[in-house]
Amino acid sequence: MKLMRVLEGQTLSPPPIWLMRQAGRYLPEYREVRAKQPDFINFCLNPEAAAEVTFQPIRRYGLDASIVFADILLIPHGLGQKVWFEKGEGPKLEPIGLEDLNTLSIERSREVLQPVMETLKILRSGLPEETALIGFCGAPWTVATYMIEGGGSKDRFKARSLAWAEPDKFDALMDLLADASAAYLADQVRAGADVVKIFDSWADGLPDPLFDRVVIRPTRRIMERLKADGVTAPVIGFPKGSGPQMVRYAEQTGVNCLSLDHGVDTAWAASALPKTLPVQGQLDPAVLHAGGAALDLEIDRLLSAWADRPYVFNLGHGIHLDTPPENVTRLIERVRG
Ligand code: CP3
Repeated sequence: MKLMRVLEGQTLSPPPIWLMRQAGRYLPEYREVRAKQPDFINFCLNPEAAAEVTFQPIRRYGLDASIVFADILLIPHGLGQKVWFEKGEGPKLEPIGLEDLNTLSIERSREVLQPVMETLKILRSGLPEETALIGFCGAPWTVATYMIEGGGSKDRFKARSLAWAEPDKFDALMDLLADASAAYLADQVRAGADVVKIFDSWADGLPDPLFDRVVIRPTRRIMERLKADGVTAPVIGFPKGSGPQMVRYAEQTGVNCLSLDHGVDTAWAASALPKTLPVQGQLDPAVLHAGGAALDLEIDRLLSAWADRPYVFNLGHGIHLDTPPENVTRLIERVRG
């Protein structure tokens, strides 16, 4: 598997390629399945339907990796918080307070999320041998912002304020989420995932002390738990928008690969990050949406900028839902020469 070889430190030309949120609404075949699955959480917990939409981008494009169809908000759902998706509005959660942590149960979460393990087993047995299987979770901070804010929010102000105001209780929430996430990732590896990814989509805009407390420390805790659990699968970290703080994140968490967003200064990252650390990503989802000559130029820039180190071609964030599927074909053909 090309992805695994790069995560072990090999430099491959052409690099392996997969796309964040590669299963989803930009594909007509996804929309067809989704139309028959009105409840998004139940859809994620339906192994046949979830496996089907995970296979779709692999069948269409032959990508080098497949990421299990699920969602980062399955953890709050599993822990016992009410989570639902409203059409056109994104996720909604019944907000919880830091005094409610004792209502959340990791045991329950492992049980409720068993269907994801079934999905992984279907995938492992149905995927081509050379296609790596990726499991994932949201990072504690990113998941906590949804749990506290009751959904997506512009700048996570409420969560940040609470992290400053109630450090002990907030750190206890981070620990609980780290432990639930580590158990969930270990279960995914045992069910067939070759590699796992931790999505910290809202790691931007955090002052250093908070970044260390809510991003680095909980992520390192996940890494330690996985190790203690005997999990040796590589871990990809995605501290989106963290800028120079990502150097510390890489050093101190021990993740095996750093997924870079499109706002990262490429030359800076290439010199600031250890030469042996595999990196992934950077293509702007907007240039994939735009297509044409602009897309070709960006692909070439990234291929040449990252040619001399272990690199996985990917987007800097999830694919946009209006992306023409033929732009993805163009991307893959160009990356593979
Ligand atoms: O191929 C894949 O990557 C599919 C698996 C996947 C989904 N969500 C399915 C999904 C993954 C890896 C995620 C991660 C996820 N979910 C993140 C982290 C990555 C990122 O994009 O930052 C976050 C923040 C979420 C939370 C979430 N889930 C939001 C904010 C939304 C609504 C907005 C949106 O992007 O659609 C979702 C819903 C969701 N998760 C969809 C899919 C395919 C769309 C649901 C639909 O079909 O209506």
